[in-house]
Amino acid sequence: MIDLLLGLQWGDEGKGKVVDVLTRNYDIIARFQGGPNAGHTLIFDGNKHVLHTIPSGIFHPRAMNLVGNGVVIDPVIFKKELENLSRHNINFKERLLISRKAHIILPTHRLLDAASEKMKGKAKIGSTLKGIGPTYMDKTGRNGIRVGDLELSDWKERYSNLCHKHLKMIKFYEVELEFDLDAMEKEFFEAIEVLRELQFIDSEAYINKALRDKKSILAEGAQGSLLDIDFGTYPYVTSSNTTAAGACTGLGVAPSRIGSVYGIFKAYTTRVGSGPFPTELFDEDGKTMARIGNEFGATTGRPRRCGWLDLIALKYAVEINGVTNLMMMKGDVLSGFKTIKACTSYTYKGKEILHLPYNIEPENVSVNYTEFEGWDEDLTAITSPSQMPENLKDYIRFIEDFVGVKVSLVSVGPDRNQTIRIE
Ligand code: GDP
Ligand code: IMO
Ligand code: MG
Repeated sequence: MIDLLLGLQWGDEGKGKVVDVLTRNYDIIARFQGGPNAGHTLIFDGNKHVLHTIPSGIFHPRAMNLVGNGVVIDPVIFKKELENLSRHNINFKERLLISRKAHIILPTHRLLDAASEKMKGKAKIGSTLKGIGPTYMDKTGRNGIRVGDLELSDWKERYSNLCHKHLKMIKFYEVELEFDLDAMEKEFFEAIEVLRELQFIDSEAYINKALRDKKSILAEGAQGSLLDIDFGTYPYVTSSNTTAAGACTGLGVAPSRIGSVYGIFKAYTTRVGSGPFPTELFDEDGKTMARIGNEFGATTGRPRRCGWLDLIALKYAVEINGVTNLMMMKGDVLSGFKTIKACTSYTYKGKEILHLPYNIEPENVSVNYTEFEGWDEDLTAITSPSQMPENLKDYIRFIEDFVGVKVSLVSVGPDRNQTIRIE
């Protein structure tokens, strides 16, 4: 079976940490969508690592790590990730596999991303500017270049044609963009040579054989359900399916092969980039969450917007993904709040509703909260559920009852060891 680990909010829930914790139970860890817009943080043995494209199982000596067909790869960023692994003496050559069907982010995809955002002005998505949108556009527009193309003799010609087309498109945007394409291409082609040293495979065949051989596989989601291209807060979303179904198309596995679906959420909510966020806080509480939670983007360093947990949105994400187990992250950040709130209904055009409506912009939606008594205890050193403060247990119980799924893991700090499992 293949288990899935998915973010249920707007990303940065702590997926990297949990995948790292769970890896010892799996033979293969696979990324199935997204690209270097992701920033997954792992902390152990006093070191912090941020992965963008490489699966978060890479630090365990046994696990195989697959970059699936649904992922988009920027060779330049990939090379930097590999260099970081080498610096830490991680032997990745034998354990890192890349799908031939994964698409490649070209330097001009990044430029197109920047041009598009610039033209949108105030209405910009707040993209990470990693070229994600334009690369997926070329994929669905049937113009993209894939990893397997690097093995063909005419790939440079295909690169030139696509690059030429992109340069014309950039002119169409009529925005000022400064760039040195020669320098970008030099860096890109050098990185392609590094990429070539890795193993390119027909990953759908690999993964289905692994399933037949009864290997255990964990699919590592990137971004979060509310950034899904179909089910997120469109157009303020990313360009891939971040939800459970994305694992089927992004790896080539049948829905019947899916086992557990781990849904991961923060005890509060964050969002980086533009778009609606009904429970967003602009007061001291929000600032406290940002400060204690150290809420800065792992990829861009931008401050993350913070707010209370939105149980209407969480329930929506649980349903779309078929979540079987919940994992609550960053409970420690809420220690010291006298009162904790969670959104349990919206007022939509004057009426109370219990679902996520089509329009969740502030002019349409206001939030109604249920309040909880907070706890003062520092959670970062606790190791078992019995040590959890009663008020935290009550908060968790309420969440479980509201969304109808049990919490099986509570994270109380960024380190690998600051993790409590609940049987
Ligand atoms: P991802 O994109 O879902 O992998 O999450 P990020 O790595 O972008 O952001 C999560 C941040 O929270 C990282 O800085 C983690 O080190 C940190 N983190 C993860 N779990 C916890 C936790 O339980 N408590 C605290 N305080 N920090 C955590
Ligand atoms: P991880 O995997 C948080 C957000 C961007 C922007 C929108 C579109 O670390 O959780 P894009 O670069 O895809 O065109 O940006 O999506 N975004 C993320 N926010 N975590 C991420 O990944 C994100 N990846 C993209 O901020 O609002
Ligand atoms: Mg992140």
